[in-house]
Amino acid sequence: MSRISARAGLVEPFAAMGIVARVQQLRSEGRDTIAMCLGEPTQGAPAAVRRRAAEVLTDGTDLGYSAIFGIPELREAIASHYRDWYGLDVPADRVAITTGSSGAFQIAFLTCFDAGGRVALARPGYGAYKNILAALDCEVVELDCGAETGFQPTVDLLDAAHAEAPLAGLMLASPANPTGTMISAEHLGELVAWCREHGVQVISDEIYHGISYIGTRGETALAHDDDAIVISSFSKYWAMTGWRLGWAILPEHLLDAARNVAGNLALCAPVPAQHAAVAAFEPESYAECEAAVASFARARDHVLDATADLGFTGMAPPDGAFYMYARIDDLLARSGTATSAQWCSDLLEATGVALAPGDDFDSVHGPQSVRLSLAVGAERTAEAIDRILDHLR
Ligand SMILES: Cc1ncc(COP(=O)(O)O)c(C=O)c1O
Repeated sequence: MSRISARAGLVEPFAAMGIVARVQQLRSEGRDTIAMCLGEPTQGAPAAVRRRAAEVLTDGTDLGYSAIFGIPELREAIASHYRDWYGLDVPADRVAITTGSSGAFQIAFLTCFDAGGRVALARPGYGAYKNILAALDCEVVELDCGAETGFQPTVDLLDAAHAEAPLAGLMLASPANPTGTMISAEHLGELVAWCREHGVQVISDEIYHGISYIGTRGETALAHDDDAIVISSFSKYWAMTGWRLGWAILPEHLLDAARNVAGNLALCAPVPAQHAAVAAFEPESYAECEAAVASFARARDHVLDATADLGFTGMAPPDGAFYMYARIDDLLARSGTATSAQWCSDLLEATGVALAPGDDFDSVHGPQSVRLSLAVGAERTAEAIDRILDHLR
C-alpha cells in the first residue's frame, strides 16, 4: 500500500542535488572540482566556537534538552547582537533559538498561517519557502520579480496579488538567494507599512545579513515593525551550516503559540551547538567572519569583471550574500543545449566547475538561468572563471 500524502507530492526536490552528487562522484575519482553550486561557506565555524564546542563536550556541561526557545546565554547574546548591529532593543525573551533558519520557517508558518492562507514571495527565490508552505497546504503566491526591481517585491505587485484574494503573509529575503540583491531601508519601510495596513504578516529572512558589499550589513524588518517575524541563522555569516542553529525574533503576541509549535516540532535546538554559538559573538569570531566576507567580495569582483566574456546577462548587481544569478539564453543557443540543467551538467564534465541550474529558484525562467555561489572564496572563483572561459573559447 502506498501512503504518500498529496501535500508531500507538492514538495519538489532540490535540482542542484543532482549536480552535487556528480561533484562527489568526480571527487572520489580524484578529479579537481570547484563546487560553486552550494550555498555553503568553506572556511568552517569561527575558532572560538570550535574551542567552546570542544570544552562543552568534555567538561560535563549539561547537554540535555534546553528550554524550548534555547539557553538564556545565547538568547541574551543574540539580543545584544541586535543592539550592536542595528541599535535595536530586542528583549531576549522574544528570541527563539531554532534548528537553523529552516526550523524557524516551519515554526513561523505553522504559527501564523492556516491551510489555504495566501503567502506571497518573490520569484526567483529560495525554493524551500514555497515547498514548505505547499506542504502546509498554504497557497503560494509567486510575485514575478525581474531585474528591474532588483528581483524584490514591490507595493504594486502586492496590491495586484491582494486584489485577487487577500494575502495572509509576505515572505521577504534580503540579501536574497539566488540573486544577492538587497531591499533598501526605504523600500523595506514601504513594504512593511503596506503589510501592516493590510493585516499581512511579514516574515523576513535575514540569514545573509553581514555578507554585504554595499556598506550596510542589511536592513532589518524589525526597524520598521516590531510585529515582523525576523529569521536568521549561524549557517552563512558564521559558516556553521551543519551545526543546525538559527533563530527567530517573534512579536510578543505570538510567543506562546510559537513556543507550543516549536516544542512539539523539535523540543529544542541542538544544545551543544547552542553553548558553542555564544562564542560566535566574540570580537575574534566577528573578525574571522569579516575576513571571509572580504574574500567573497573579491570573488564577486572577479565574476563582475568577467560577466560579459562569460556571456551572462540579466544580472542585478549582487549587493550581498554570496550568490550571482544570471540568464544564459545566449550560451544555451550557442551550444545547442535546451536547459541550464543540461548546460551545467556539460560544464561540470568538461571543466570540473559546478554551477546550480536556476530550476530550484524559478519555475519560469530557471531553466534559462544559473546561480553561482562565491562561497568557495576568491581564489577558487578566479580559477573557476578561467576554466569556464577556456571552455567557452
Ligand atoms: C535564503 C536562505 N534561507 C534559509 C536557508 C537555510 O539555512 P539554515 O541552514 O539556517 O537552515 C538558506 C540555505 O541555503 C537560504 O539560502
